[in-house]
Amino acid sequence: MAGEWILMVTAQTPTNIAVIKYWGKRDESLILPVNDSISVTLDPEHLCTTTTVAVSPSFEQDRMWLNGKEISLSGGRFQSCLREIRARATDVENKEKGIKISKKDWEKLHVHISSFNNFPTAAGLASSAAGFACLVFSLAKLMNVKEDHSQLSAIARQGSGSACRSLYGGFVKWIMGKEENGSDSLAVQLADEKHWGELVIIIAVVSSRQKETSSTSGMRESVETSLLLQHRAKEVVPKRTVKMEEAIQNRDFASFAGLTCADSNQFHAVCLDTCPPIFYMNDTSHRIISCVEKWNRSEEAPQVAYTFDAGPNAVLIARNRKAASLLLQRLLYYFPPNADTDMNSYVLGDKSILKDAGIQGINDVEALPPPPEIKDKIPAQKNRGEVSYFICTRPGRGPVELSDKSQALIDPKTGLPK
Ligand code: ADP
Ligand code: DP6
Repeated sequence: MAGEWILMVTAQTPTNIAVIKYWGKRDESLILPVNDSISVTLDPEHLCTTTTVAVSPSFEQDRMWLNGKEISLSGGRFQSCLREIRARATDVENKEKGIKISKKDWEKLHVHISSFNNFPTAAGLASSAAGFACLVFSLAKLMNVKEDHSQLSAIARQGSGSACRSLYGGFVKWIMGKEENGSDSLAVQLADEKHWGELVIIIAVVSSRQKETSSTSGMRESVETSLLLQHRAKEVVPKRTVKMEEAIQNRDFASFAGLTCADSNQFHAVCLDTCPPIFYMNDTSHRIISCVEKWNRSEEAPQVAYTFDAGPNAVLIARNRKAASLLLQRLLYYFPPNADTDMNSYVLGDKSILKDAGIQGINDVEALPPPPEIKDKIPAQKNRGEVSYFICTRPGRGPVELSDKSQALIDPKTGLPK
């Protein structure tokens, strides 16, 4: 590297959770969906990807490190994102460093990419969504790509479908589009994160032993075999997205919760309707649904919505902080940690919700009374150890470039991960 220059950009991108699910492609290689989907972006303070991209004439090939380990970029999805971004690169001039890169130079220059997820990778928490969104966003900044976030979302989509929705904060719609080349299959923001800031999100990371079917192969099998998927895409989702957009605009929680739960349940029904059937939820997931349904029914209006992706983890959206603290009490009552667990490692993210729930230590959990909606004489069953941990979070912002050089993941002297 001696004597050679290096130029770097670092960015941070959130994950997202779909409240109207994407399930099924009409084009596998361009990643074009069979229906629109809608998501909530999660606060990057608790779940995010940070990626540094660097360019230098001394780099001999494109290389990438994920969480410190080198990974191959040869896969079609990484190649599509790199190709599409490079095709849109424009002139870059850094007067301070005396660097000038012309549009044409980008074809020959190689990049080093280092990325870190602040939450478990490939554990059903949408690292692929945050990861591909961050890759595209940071490369676009480095290469001075002039396209707006929606156009970048159409590139991130080619890394992983759900990644296109991570180009925006708040509430996001992925419009399926009609064009064969996918140019109109992109994400738009419905409302920013401040629009409905009182929502609180609690993720229950459910212990699971079995290896799940990946979303990519699961949805392929559903498209090939499920008649319910055809009905869902044609008849159900188009009407549901209109209602969901209204619910979000009007901050109508009852409608939002009804639609979110119904859509999650229909997505899992499509999985059951697939041949052979796919089981993403497990007994713990079902117990969480029962807990929420029972509580919602005992109240005048729903307090919590639940939604599950291609795995057993529950994403619970509470109408406000009060509902979130009551929800956390219920969750801890039904799913207490193992005796030796420190509460600080059992409830992660925004710990103020734990404080609101009046829980400081394990003794407070053991002293929780049964939720009042349990009227049965038989005491409620406790399911110790079924949940690995909880993450408390909220709707959050979209991608940002980090200007603080100390946050870079690549050493400017070596061009390698720090
Ligand atoms: P998850 O449920 O976390 O999305 P997947 O198995 O669907 O898990 O996706 C994991 C894959 O996503 C990784 O193997 C990798 O290809 C990609 N990925 C994850 N994190 C990143 C990242 N930070 N940058 C680029 N790609 C990533
Ligand atoms: C259940 O985006 O992971 O989370 O496009 O093949 O990479 P690929 O699939 P992916 O699928 C996500 C499916 C889902 C629902 C959703 O996020 O909308």
